[in-house]
Amino acid sequence: MAAKVDVLLGAQWGDEGKGKVVDVVAPEYAVIARFQGGPNAGHTLIFDGKKHVLHTIPSGVFRKGVWNLVGNGVVIDPVIFLREVKALDEAGVDVRPRLLISRRAHLILPTHRALDEASETDKGKEKIGSTLKGIGPTYMDKTGRNGLRMGDIERPDFMDRYKALVAKHERLFSIYDHQVEWRSKEAEWLEAIEALRQFTLVDSEHWLDEQLRQGNSVLAEGAQGTLLDIDFGTYPFVTSSNTISAGACTGLGIGPSRIGKVIGIFKAYCTRVGSGPFPTELHDAAGDAIREAGKEFGSTTGRPRRCGWLDLPALRYAVMINGVTELAMMKADVLSGMDTIRVCTSYRIQGKEIDQLPYQIPDDLEPVYTDLPGWGELDANKPLPATAEAYIAYIEQATGIPVRIVSVGPDRSATMIRDMAAVSR
Ligand code: GDP
Ligand code: IMO
Ligand code: MG
Repeated sequence: MAAKVDVLLGAQWGDEGKGKVVDVVAPEYAVIARFQGGPNAGHTLIFDGKKHVLHTIPSGVFRKGVWNLVGNGVVIDPVIFLREVKALDEAGVDVRPRLLISRRAHLILPTHRALDEASETDKGKEKIGSTLKGIGPTYMDKTGRNGLRMGDIERPDFMDRYKALVAKHERLFSIYDHQVEWRSKEAEWLEAIEALRQFTLVDSEHWLDEQLRQGNSVLAEGAQGTLLDIDFGTYPFVTSSNTISAGACTGLGIGPSRIGKVIGIFKAYCTRVGSGPFPTELHDAAGDAIREAGKEFGSTTGRPRRCGWLDLPALRYAVMINGVTELAMMKADVLSGMDTIRVCTSYRIQGKEIDQLPYQIPDDLEPVYTDLPGWGELDANKPLPATAEAYIAYIEQATGIPVRIVSVGPDRSATMIRDMAAVSR
């Protein structure tokens, strides 16, 4: 029987711990496939006392026998990609034999990065807080039908196409006040393009189809999170791709009927890095305590993450948009030692209470909280304390979705898989 594609994605504003969970469940799959985003992502894996941060390469690379595919929906910066490969080489992992790249994936040029920076600088106070990896300009060229794709490096006229796109970008720079030097980056980028030729490019939609027909299951690894989705996130403070489950269909070339489980990853609280609305954000000692305990500093940029309580209307929204079938709650250990833990159950806007995420999140939105009792130390080898179980039950009740995975530490081993029969209603 044909196998299915399970989708694993972020249900908040990114950095939920997707990389860790992919690494934990990867042995259950034949293929791990990234479907969108690019080096704006930073997925952290920790095991055997070592930490690895992946940006473009799927998080299945440390599991033997698993194929890793960079799908057509991903945007690739060859320089960053090679840096990742080198870091993996140094860690003793040669990714080449089991890593495939879709010919349809778009390339990030040095000029895309420069345009990203010029646009952000010009925006001033209104800036998105982009990771400045060139993500927005690259997806703009993709939808504007100007982009360069991985498959183009196999064409004899690649350099002509590259120069034509750069010439367009040079004209575009004139609309920005802030000018960014990029020429010094060109030689390294062109060298990286040459080096990319040693990797296997595939027509990944056909390759995936064949895998599924042979009964080999696939896990689609999302980047960013639902509230950063270009359509359903807190626009314009979003990224430039569809981070939601539908993005796995377009980002890999698979039909919706082939999707199996949709695993929504969320933290036991919320974080956001970059600008934009964040209803439950804390500007007090509790927020600082979460940032310290959770080491909430960006994996890609090192920026401090904004921290706040769990937002249930936002989580319900993510469950709805993605068709989440099971949840994974991360970083439960970060809240250890708190007497009470708050969860936002609805919002109050100008005196009116609503329990749905609105089109626009106004500055004067007030979260309505319920306080739940906290817990002490957590240990993956011991049953969860009753208060942690009650917290999870509360979330399951509010979302209607079982929490199958509970993560109690950054290490691969600090992960609890709950019995689905016991948690599903
Ligand atoms: P991703 O982008 O969704 O893969 O998440 P990131 O790797 O950017 O951020 C998650 C951070 O939390 C990383 O530093 C992880 O090592 C860490 N982490 C993941 N799960 C847990 C957990 O259960 N507890 C703690 N304390 N840290 C965790
Ligand atoms: P992972 O996969 C958290 C945020 C940026 C910024 C906005 C747009 O590690 O969860 P972009 O560079 O895409 O133009 O930035 O999106 N952002 C992320 N925040 N985790 C990520 O990825 C992110 N990727 C982008 O901070 O607010
Ligand atoms: Mg991250």
